[in-house]
Amino acid sequence: MTARTSKTKTMDFNSIAEVEDKYQVATYKKMPIAIERGEGSWVWTSEGTKYLDLYGGHAVCATGHSHPNVVKRISEQAQRVIFYSNLVYSQIRAEASQQLVSIAPAGLTQAFFCNSGTEANENAMRMARMTTGREKIVTFTGGFHGRTADAISATFLGKYRDLGKPNVPGHVAAEFGDIESVRKVIDADTAAVMLEPIQSMAGVCEAEPEFFIELRRLCDGNGALLIFDEVQTGIGRVGEWFFAGSSFAGGVVPDIVTLAKSLGSGVPVGACLVNARVAGHIKLNDLGTTFGGGMLAMAAVLGTLEAIESDRMIENASMIESRIRTGLTGVPGVRSIKGKGCLLGIEFEENCSPVHERLLEAGIITGTSSDPKVLRLLPPLNTRLEEIDLFIERLAH
Ligand SMILES: Cc1ncc(COP(=O)(O)O)c(C=O)c1O
Repeated sequence: MTARTSKTKTMDFNSIAEVEDKYQVATYKKMPIAIERGEGSWVWTSEGTKYLDLYGGHAVCATGHSHPNVVKRISEQAQRVIFYSNLVYSQIRAEASQQLVSIAPAGLTQAFFCNSGTEANENAMRMARMTTGREKIVTFTGGFHGRTADAISATFLGKYRDLGKPNVPGHVAAEFGDIESVRKVIDADTAAVMLEPIQSMAGVCEAEPEFFIELRRLCDGNGALLIFDEVQTGIGRVGEWFFAGSSFAGGVVPDIVTLAKSLGSGVPVGACLVNARVAGHIKLNDLGTTFGGGMLAMAAVLGTLEAIESDRMIENASMIESRIRTGLTGVPGVRSIKGKGCLLGIEFEENCSPVHERLLEAGIITGTSSDPKVLRLLPPLNTRLEEIDLFIERLAH
């Protein structure tokens, strides 16, 4: 074994890729770049090449890469104390919880912190079962909720559910946007209806506000809870702090909102925001987590919320959407623009993977989706309009 030193030897791209591929179990098909540094909406590779990151580090870096306020918050916290669990109180956790609840839609009054989106959804479904004493969960074709047992069983998008076999019993699917299909499956055994309010991975699929209004009515009429999986839509991405409670949702506020991705600007953290009814059913030791609510993650949450607020990123997210809609109107091959704010799907006439590759060669990172014709953009909310213009120009030429 070679001696470890604190100084890391610089490796070129081929060596990095060879070593990672050798020592890591496969996950995603990787882009042929190694990221070394990031600032704002830009990342630099091991070879010094600069890319405009309109995929936001996998829908995560809402405040851009290494936002100074997030860096300050986490580095100050790391020097004070990195971690202690919910077995003790902590000022940074108190502040982060209060701040998060203060921006939440009216009625969502308490937070449960965990570490990821899938964990937030697992806990949301568990809380719904504890609150109602029922087991059945209704989700939607095309929805994605994560890869742990219960969340993958709630995921009726493509092949994912099968990857989680044997599935957790009690999951049924309705058709997104089709209230009659929900009416057919919701009943007195239903603990909750859970949905991504914009189905991102499915290709940025949207539903009308009336759908959410009817869904709320159906849940109330059947004594079931309503859960919004806002792992992608939450924390300002749609041009509002949350999809829940916005005009996009017809003002509907669910009983539980789940969050992750943008919440910590890249430091792993997830959360469930719940109303008083749900919180009232959770007793000591019903839920637990070692890492959830740890101080470093809470510093990242606080740093993120402060940055979004002080840099007026939510307004900017809406301006980005308008700029893209205007800029891509009439561009040959583009059929439509879907989504809201900084969660956008560009629908092409044909398979968009050649466009995705061409943009990467031109120095712009974008995302694909499970719809081969939909290119996804999940840029940092503070991406500058000149940077968006650069994308429009490179896409159009
Ligand atoms: C809508 C949605 N829910 C849940 C998840 C799972 O989150 P995580 O990968 O943090 O477990 C994702 C991840 O892409 C997601 O997009």
